[in-house]
Amino acid sequence: MATLTEKIIAAHLVDGEMVPGNEIGLKIDQTLTQDSTGTMAYLELEAMDPPRVRTERSVAYIDHNMLQSGPENFDDHLFIQSAAADYGIWLSKAGNGICHQVHLENFGIPGKTLIGSDSHTPTGGGIGMIAIGAGGVDVAAAMAGRPYYITMPEVIEVRLTGRLSAGVAAKDIILEVLRRESVKGGVNKVYEYTGDGVQTLTVPERATITNMGAELGATTSIFPSDDLTRTYLASFGREDDWQALAADPDAQYAKTIEINLNDLRPLLACPHSPDAVVPVADKAGLKVNQVAIGSCTNSSYVDLAKVAAVLKGNRVNPNVSLVISPGSRQILKRLADDGLLSIFIEAGARILECGCGPCIGMGQAPNTDGVSLRSFNRNFYARSGTASADVYLASPETCAMTAIHGVVTDPYGEEKFQGIQHPEAFQIDHNLFIPPSEEAIGQTDLVKGPNIKDCPVGQPVPETLEGQVATHLEDNITTDHIAPSNAKLLPFRSNVPYLSNFCLTPADPDFPEKCKAMTGAAPVVVAGENYGQGSSREHAALCPLYLGVRAVIAKSFARIHKANLINNGILPLTFADPADYDLVKEGAKLTFKNLPAQIKTGQVDVEVEGLDRPLSLKIDLGSRQEDLLLAGGLLATIKAEQEK
Ligand code: F3S
Repeated sequence: MATLTEKIIAAHLVDGEMVPGNEIGLKIDQTLTQDSTGTMAYLELEAMDPPRVRTERSVAYIDHNMLQSGPENFDDHLFIQSAAADYGIWLSKAGNGICHQVHLENFGIPGKTLIGSDSHTPTGGGIGMIAIGAGGVDVAAAMAGRPYYITMPEVIEVRLTGRLSAGVAAKDIILEVLRRESVKGGVNKVYEYTGDGVQTLTVPERATITNMGAELGATTSIFPSDDLTRTYLASFGREDDWQALAADPDAQYAKTIEINLNDLRPLLACPHSPDAVVPVADKAGLKVNQVAIGSCTNSSYVDLAKVAAVLKGNRVNPNVSLVISPGSRQILKRLADDGLLSIFIEAGARILECGCGPCIGMGQAPNTDGVSLRSFNRNFYARSGTASADVYLASPETCAMTAIHGVVTDPYGEEKFQGIQHPEAFQIDHNLFIPPSEEAIGQTDLVKGPNIKDCPVGQPVPETLEGQVATHLEDNITTDHIAPSNAKLLPFRSNVPYLSNFCLTPADPDFPEKCKAMTGAAPVVVAGENYGQGSSREHAALCPLYLGVRAVIAKSFARIHKANLINNGILPLTFADPADYDLVKEGAKLTFKNLPAQIKTGQVDVEVEGLDRPLSLKIDLGSRQEDLLLAGGLLATIKAEQEK
């Protein structure tokens, strides 16, 4: 009677009961990091200092910050390389590909657990893993052998029937789920895909869906492991890693969403949210300046082969800049071997290296007031690097058709994509991996360039906390608002003191200065719904921590960000009555009394200067999270344990 999610969780459960809403601890088999969050994760691992990693497989990817316009990025890569060697971690060097794509090809195993310091780690659900995005300190703790804690999710069934029509893609399936469920619909939920339609989707297509399931705010998404999964693993010489996995036929789900693939039409997400989904046909004719194809969502061989099918014999429209980033070097090589790379070049596409590139705002920012159509997963305000640009998200098919026509073009009914298959066998290329070596483990000095600064550590919760509202923000504040990440700032991700000067500035340009100017009171952030949506970026907790923020009061929180706040000793409080949001304006002085005792009750009353009643707040924590928060966070807890 179990869902696939429950089966894998049960096989890895080390703490707690599998009742939705309960906190549970899981044994973690695999971890991944990318460089943007990885430097912090390895600084935290260093602070924990295990002799070596205790997972079955841990991999450090360099895929985000590859522009080397100053020494910072390369210095970070070398730091990660030294940490990988010292702790027994695989290193995937710059240029090897995007972490999720490369992990799927080389390391992902059905039925295993994976956490990664990147919010799109659920991509691994495409081959039947429980794969979850987490904060860097959680990943570091899992590498050190600690369980990973989550709220036991509700399992939602997405039952797929029928078959996609010509020109309709896996991307359109996840856009349809986002249209129905919204960017906050998936909190503490796992989306499990079932039904006959599953057998019509290859692993890369499934991985597009599980990847962008992150935009639902879901814990993760998962597909069964079947013959197509075996075929996929076999194509990378890993058939032995395969096992069949599926939900029991009579599994019970909290809710079922039905999608008939026959009825689906090409969709796109409008600025500035992945759930602002409309039919491509509604936007047909919109002039586009840039088309970007790639990212961990849509950079598989089949995705790019479909792009080649459109570009063959055509020219990119003179008013469009088309950039293509293959997901991995193995894919790039295969595209070259099969003659598809030549098609891109002849059509006038710009080929970027195998990495995140424009998705993270690392180059290729759109023009002022420009329109960019991307096969990516996020179009949050200013993420592209151009705040005035409008970024739309769509399938590679829609992107490619648009690139040649210069205006948004609906690929529905286009027969060119029929029959494009995932190759039977790839030539295995491990040249840019450095596997762990016994000689190096515990014997390697960490290489820290001058830009690598220590990680701030949270403080235990005091009896009385004097706070002051430093900013009053709207709904859907993203991690891109809290810790902006663009080509100018990304090189400083190992330097929290510097990055904190930009904390929340896209939403409130004066926020860092206001925090620094506060004396005698800790800055408090007030926000609306879904605060911290977006990435797993731990900097979105570390920068406020560095600025002295002790509490965030919001109408609701995104899952990973809430965990990151707790892990760093910042109180994630919610309004008992959301209408009270309007009562705590910027500058309001707050007094939290008997704070540890109040936190233990789940109810925190705070005195607000000038208000004739206490403000009633809630704090929803498991007992482990409560202990962590009271002690100042995970790193503070581990450090305190070591000092005993
Ligand atoms: Fe990279 Fe963008 Fe994915 S930054 S990991 S390609 S969401």
